Amino acid sequence: MTVQERVEKLLAQMTPAEKAGQLTQYFYFRLPPDAPGPVLEFDRDEQPRMVEARLGEGLVGSLLFLTDPAEINRLQRLAVEGNRFGIPALVGFDVVHGLRTVFPVPIAMAASWDLEVIEAGQAVAAREARAVGIHWAFAPMVDIARDPRWGRIIEGAGEDPYLGAAVAVAQVRGFQGQEMGTPERIIAGPKHFAGYGYALGGRDYDEVDLSDSQLWNVVLPPFRAAIEAGAGNVMTAYMDLNGIPATGSGWLFTDLLRDTLGFDGFVVSDANAVRNLVTHGFAADLTDAGARAVNAGVDMEMAISGAAYAHLPEALEAGEVDMAAVDASVRRILAAKVRMGLLDDPYVDEDRARQVLADPAHRDVARVAAERSAVLLRNENGLLPLDATALGSVAVIGPLADSPRDTIGPWVFDFDLDETVTVLAGVRARAGGDRSGPGAATPDHAVRVGYARGVPVVQREFPSLFDMFGGNTPSDPDGFDDDAEFRRAVDLAAGADVAIVVVGEWQNMIGEMASRSSLELPGRQLELLQAVVGTGTPVVLVVMNGRPLDLRWPAANVPAILDVWYPGTQGGTAVANLLFGDVSPGGKLPFTWPRTVGQVPMTYAHTISHEPENQARRYWDEASTPLFPFGYGLSYGRFTYTNLTVDEPSTTTRGTVTVSVEVANTGDREADEVVQLYLHQRHGTASRPVRELKGFERVTLAAGESRTISFPVGPDERRYWNAAVRDWVTDASTFDVWVGGDSTADLTTRFEVTK
Ligand code: GLC
Repeated sequence: MTVQERVEKLLAQMTPAEKAGQLTQYFYFRLPPDAPGPVLEFDRDEQPRMVEARLGEGLVGSLLFLTDPAEINRLQRLAVEGNRFGIPALVGFDVVHGLRTVFPVPIAMAASWDLEVIEAGQAVAAREARAVGIHWAFAPMVDIARDPRWGRIIEGAGEDPYLGAAVAVAQVRGFQGQEMGTPERIIAGPKHFAGYGYALGGRDYDEVDLSDSQLWNVVLPPFRAAIEAGAGNVMTAYMDLNGIPATGSGWLFTDLLRDTLGFDGFVVSDANAVRNLVTHGFAADLTDAGARAVNAGVDMEMAISGAAYAHLPEALEAGEVDMAAVDASVRRILAAKVRMGLLDDPYVDEDRARQVLADPAHRDVARVAAERSAVLLRNENGLLPLDATALGSVAVIGPLADSPRDTIGPWVFDFDLDETVTVLAGVRARAGGDRSGPGAATPDHAVRVGYARGVPVVQREFPSLFDMFGGNTPSDPDGFDDDAEFRRAVDLAAGADVAIVVVGEWQNMIGEMASRSSLELPGRQLELLQAVVGTGTPVVLVVMNGRPLDLRWPAANVPAILDVWYPGTQGGTAVANLLFGDVSPGGKLPFTWPRTVGQVPMTYAHTISHEPENQARRYWDEASTPLFPFGYGLSYGRFTYTNLTVDEPSTTTRGTVTVSVEVANTGDREADEVVQLYLHQRHGTASRPVRELKGFERVTLAAGESRTISFPVGPDERRYWNAAVRDWVTDASTFDVWVGGDSTADLTTRFEVTK
């Protein structure tokens, strides 16, 4: 039987209640016994009991928040035995940047601009997830973000639609393989549709007002690319979009997502977002909320408790929703289960799960990803790479340097902290002769590696869901004395040949429900850094972050700055390899890095407005240029760009030209460069951004090596959605082209486009 035939055979026999059950997904929480509560609106024991009862009644089509294969098998058995047709539950989870092997956070992976690394990372994540019984990732998060006060900037690919679309495709391919149902792969679920990253004031969940131009030219391209790559699922967004709750918007999920973008997979709501249609003042009650979400095209409801879709039989009775709409959703859910092979084999092999999770090859993939994600922001006088053979002592300073939990960042739940390599552990293993740690090198010369926290951890006032499940940053040791420890750190630095100071945000200060009104380094970290610099010991600053932070002082006073993000399970090994030169940093910023929070939202792809000559000085009190531009990053090589050419001086609006450039590594060692192409349309039927990324390629060049890189520039690169005519246009115009190592590239040429 074909997929559709199997689906129709089941559907024809199902009652309204059984159909509603297939459309209902429940969290299955097993809160840690010591978890503070009640943070959630339910009793910690009642929720799992309720879910198990519903499973037994055939009223649950999907589960989330499970990672243990034995538990998944146990609950799957309840699901299979709980309905007349033996239909298993679809198990989804936030496999955002790895499961047991934790990769750098998504913004870091985007900073690698290395699509192969990104795809390989998500393929490992998929393999681990599928092995434990998870069938579906609530990822990639493809929300464009240009306001770093919004904590979820960490989960996406930054500010740019072209980079965001390329990263989305790589992630979907990594998760799903060539198609949904590929062995050892899982369903990819791009989220959150749509516009979530434009939250008012950067405040998570707040409303979004989005112009058509921003929606079509900036927000949708990553979703369109993910859908064209075959993503099997899309998740709704929490907030109001232009006054309508996204999760209740038929325009968004039927007219736009399905009819216009051609999405043929299934849609899931975000957590409680259907029942919250009542909170939004949109639905009158849960029955109304469920009817309106199904009518909008939201196939499955993700619920913590009190599912609105449990009221669908009443809504059908009352005529608030048609059976045809319910059946359409049930078909999509059943088709996903059939294509994932669940009806043939719903359980997992628990022994095999343990083997897959322990696969050392996965750790190597994570280490390479961390090495390729790091961005070198400053390297005055070539302080980096450090020469371990020439160093007697190194001081490692800062609480983040020795925090396994922070090293792996937010949105992780199944990690093994004992296996996590911190920056301190990585430096000791690489240079300190410590041969015990994972990834230990065996240096001839052992450097004395001292450590001091220096400053206290900044704790969140209230525990959040994520702290409970994701674990929190450990608090300070008993008897921690601020000032004494501060002085100890400074003294340690004073006596060392070099100081490696690790600063940033604690991992629970970024991500969901973690917007900030400031971008300053939390706590006394800047004060500590200034005191360490004041000792005269050369300082290397290592930044652990997921958003741009206020680094104005370090950018002017610290000779070397390496952004390592939250680098994951193998992070410390990767950071040490970068600091000591085993590999060269080659990442580039996936967002514009502002000087101060007063400048945001900010993007390099702005239009030229009034008085362009003072574009750099729009504020009375601060430059309006960024601290570091989009696409920026240094390396241990030195790259030059020459011979920028266009194969044709002119083409038609349907034509394509080829832009070529010669890149040379004039440095003394092999290094990577991300060659970037930017385009600007000089005139036409709309104001167009001063520059837009329209091509990139990461290349590795040996010392002295040069290579010619070419990019096609055709209608796809030049077209844009025009708000006046409300359609895609490709204007005849003069086009400027820049090619270089970041968005300020000055090597330029141009070509003409005629009708
Ligand atoms: C969260 C997030 C969403 C996540 C879901 C399940 O609130 O908004 O991205 O996938 O709930 O954890």
